[in-house]
Amino acid sequence: MTTLEELNAQIRACQRCRLAKSRTLAVPGEGPSNAKIMFIGEAPGFHEDQQGRPFVGAAGQFLEELLASINLTRQQVFIANVVKCRPPNNRDPQPDEIEACRPFLEAQIALLKPKIIVTLGRYSMALAFSNVSISRIHGQPKRVGDIVYFPMFHPAAALHQPQYRALIERDILKLPQILADLEAIKPAPDEPSSPQQLRLF
Ligand code: URA
Repeated sequence: MTTLEELNAQIRACQRCRLAKSRTLAVPGEGPSNAKIMFIGEAPGFHEDQQGRPFVGAAGQFLEELLASINLTRQQVFIANVVKCRPPNNRDPQPDEIEACRPFLEAQIALLKPKIIVTLGRYSMALAFSNVSISRIHGQPKRVGDIVYFPMFHPAAALHQPQYRALIERDILKLPQILADLEAIKPAPDEPSSPQQLRLF
């Protein structure tokens, strides 16, 4: 089984799509291997590309404020992106780039086994929700297999359109209760936990 460190090395050396040619550094993601909550953004921006770390620019600053509002620090959660290399001029990632990067994200999720995946923006929302608008489903958790997906607007949305700030700030306040509910479920030995036991679903 690959470790997170091995996966990170593969991501840093990746040449699977055109973004490898224009990137400075690939951005595998970071956080503890036993993180219960994983945040997945869209793609690295300028600062992330320079530093090889996710969410270190203005959107990252806001993400840290959001985490602080629920008494978490970025060191306690895993932070990654759908696409690990910066698209030129921060353009949207293209479908073939997302597809080329998908095995890395899937491997990260398989290794981490987070209880909750917070999707930030529409690209990571598409991991668990299809044909829905983020405006309709943000802040509403959905269980897929063993993981609860929690869709939120991307923090950068609040930087460009201030009306999103309050929505995002309100949504994240739901996370502690979702986690508490998940942790309260203690499946009997040999019995998988059932989604019906979870009050929020
Ligand atoms: N926006 C993202 O989606 N990811 C980052 O890492 C930074 C900004």
